[in-house]
Amino acid sequence: MSSLALADTNPASLSADAVVVGLYQSADGAPTLAPGAAELDAAFEHRLIDTLVLLGATGAVGEVTRLASLGTVPAPLVAAVGLGIREAADDESVRRAAGAAVRALAGSATVALALPALRPAAEGAALGGYRFTRYRAGAATDRAPVTKIQLVVPDAKDKAAKAELKRAAALADAATFTRDCVNTPGNDLRPPAFADAVSKAATKAGLAVEVLDEKALRKGGYGGILAVGLGSAQPPRLVRLAYSPRGKATAKIALVGKGITFDTGGLSIKPAKGMWEMKSDMAGAAAVAGAMLAIAALKPKVEVVAYLPMAENMPSGSAYRPGDVVTMYSGTKVEVLNTDAEGRMVLADAIARACEDGPDYLFETSTLTGGQVTSLGNRIGGVMGSESLHERVRAAGDRVGEPMWPMPLPEEIAKLMTSDVADLSQVASGMDRSGHMLQGGYFLSRFVADGVDWAHLDVAGPAYHESEEYGYLPKGATAVPLRTLVELVVDVADNG
Ligand code: BES
Ligand code: MN
Ligand code: ZN
Repeated sequence: MSSLALADTNPASLSADAVVVGLYQSADGAPTLAPGAAELDAAFEHRLIDTLVLLGATGAVGEVTRLASLGTVPAPLVAAVGLGIREAADDESVRRAAGAAVRALAGSATVALALPALRPAAEGAALGGYRFTRYRAGAATDRAPVTKIQLVVPDAKDKAAKAELKRAAALADAATFTRDCVNTPGNDLRPPAFADAVSKAATKAGLAVEVLDEKALRKGGYGGILAVGLGSAQPPRLVRLAYSPRGKATAKIALVGKGITFDTGGLSIKPAKGMWEMKSDMAGAAAVAGAMLAIAALKPKVEVVAYLPMAENMPSGSAYRPGDVVTMYSGTKVEVLNTDAEGRMVLADAIARACEDGPDYLFETSTLTGGQVTSLGNRIGGVMGSESLHERVRAAGDRVGEPMWPMPLPEEIAKLMTSDVADLSQVASGMDRSGHMLQGGYFLSRFVADGVDWAHLDVAGPAYHESEEYGYLPKGATAVPLRTLVELVVDVADNG
């Protein structure tokens, strides 16, 4: 994890291993330097742009062009990172550019960024500097990740600048915790170990922690969590984290995240192809845990309680089976049709429990359905729940660069999920896959108490991708939707 610091030294005399400036793309083809690059340009006798163009730079978002300074300035490397068209450049372009620069500059220990917009630059750089190296001895060809990121500002003692940096660091630290949990393979992060890791980090952050073990879950009647956990040699858990502000709270928020430490599908077993990716099926819980760590650091004036149901979905002689009827924590009886729809089983119990705390808002997130990936792809999450919250969630996601798109929960989906033998069917009867993502959302809606405004964020696609790194997102765990959750909590704290 790279550390963040402010620097108010002129970038042309700064001692760092690399200095990064921004480049805007322009309609007529010639890129221009972004604010922050003037002193460096002067040191290069105003030939920086011509040199960068000679090297092929265009200013496209995330494009990194490196040149050796050959003694012109103390930093041996100068890099220009594309910010896109100036008029269209927003916080997300700066985050992506900073992330791409830090990824490209691996091998340089200290990197200084002279970019416009402090917070997004700091956030993108710190998020982009992430590496998961726990299981890799480090090949000789690996370049060491950047350890120190300096943000060039006019005054390093400025209070506002310090606060921006603190906020970026809190989010990046939280995202590191989340990504580490998600990237940890299933054999090293089974429910008790996951509960321990979260408890330890949360306690250290000053949050109140409570862990229900299998005995407590049985006593409490958490039928959904217990059913999913039956197949595993390691028992399920329900972790509760609570944050209270020092002064008066403006509202109470509940967060819930799916914590399936590995999803084989259970007896309705998944095909081997891609099953290993299901080590990421606890990404919702990990994002909620990370959000709570960030909240503990940022101290918004709102009460936040988080519930993380954790279980391993395995096939075995003791596993729950299709056709079982499970009495959930809420008392609702559910007919199981497909043991691979395990997420909604554990979430339903956690949601019902969270509603007992009387929240004004409930935000739940999960890698719930493959249908989310089919409909919205790998980068956009689906939002379901109270329609009054759709725009608020979409806008929050948009501000932080975690796009989310509203989806309906229409009546005909509800009709598909009636059961002949129980109160509710776990998936559409006959396992009709139409409106697959919506079925998950509808099922969860049945466990939300009346009067609670709620949103379900299905992030099956954006939480994890093996395909490619881009901007400030590495391969593997992304920590989505951690920053959206924090943004929503801060939004509620500020605006009710
Ligand atoms: N964890 C999966 C969903 C998933 C799929 C997440 C792909 C990330 C990438 C979930 O538990 C699951 O298996 N869902 C089933 C539901 C079905 C059985 C109703 C699915 O999506 O097929
Ligand atoms: Mn599943
Ligand atoms: Zn799952």
